Amino acid sequence: MRKLNWHARANRAGWNRESDRNQAKHDDFLRRGSGLRWGIWQVPDSEVGAFGDVSGLRVLDLGCGGGQLLVKLAQSGAEVTGLDVSERQLDHARRGLASAGIDADLIWASADDIPCCGDAFDLVCSDHGGLTYADPRTAIPEAARVLRPGGRLVFNTSTPWAVVCWDPTDSGVTPELRNPYFGMIGYVVNDRLRSFERDDILEFQLTYGDWIRTLTRANLAIDDLVELRPPAGLVSAYSSYVSAAWATRWPAEHVWIAHKAT
Ligand SMILES: C[S@@+](CC[C@H](N)C(=O)[O-])C[C@H]1O[C@@H](n2cnc3c(N)ncnc32)[C@H](O)[C@@H]1O
Repeated sequence: MRKLNWHARANRAGWNRESDRNQAKHDDFLRRGSGLRWGIWQVPDSEVGAFGDVSGLRVLDLGCGGGQLLVKLAQSGAEVTGLDVSERQLDHARRGLASAGIDADLIWASADDIPCCGDAFDLVCSDHGGLTYADPRTAIPEAARVLRPGGRLVFNTSTPWAVVCWDPTDSGVTPELRNPYFGMIGYVVNDRLRSFERDDILEFQLTYGDWIRTLTRANLAIDDLVELRPPAGLVSAYSSYVSAAWATRWPAEHVWIAHKAT
């Protein structure tokens, strides 16, 4: 593995520590349902229109976690590669892929330093993965580099709304504006992150303007930004983070759809 920067090291340690508990809690939820789906509500891609037909495409999933999305992508006809900074998460992915009889390359690396050649993939995706936990100002240009011209980048993250309304004391999203919007970079805002513990999990977030600038400066043309809403009646395995009632009124997560300009 290449040398990791300080926040990739912290996220590696944090996700190695949390991996078994996280997979025990979410694996069934992420596996159920047919076809490609997105996020904490597992909204079908047929409603989002981000993946489309992946048959025959070379797809890289940044921050693939336990590999549940890789399995569905492969079952949809894609040639899949998963990348994750946590070797424990990759162990879970390896087991999940093997039990589904799927052959996939798994890469142990950080999304902001992808050990692949340029133009290697037709589609790069991430669902609350490497473009959330690696600094997007570095990871987005990396994703663009490994895409072929015309190739697509589709990724889901929490919204700035959710971060502004997030209560750090109970890790839940509230109806109040609690955190500053301007200057947000990490959940501990700005670049003043020096006091972090070595195994704290750190998420990144940008303002809407900074997301647009980061994507377009990386030679990515933005095609859409789809705000997800919970399907009626669905109980999410992630409801301790954000309730269905909140996410019905405000966007808790959204999917960016972009392509590499030719
Ligand atoms: C919330 S989990 C999501 C996993 C998966 N995408 C899913 O939908 O279940 C976040 C994943 O990002 C990975 N991650 C954290 N920091 C990363 C980094 N710098 N580069 C790549 N992956 C990272 C974690 O190890 C973890 O597997």
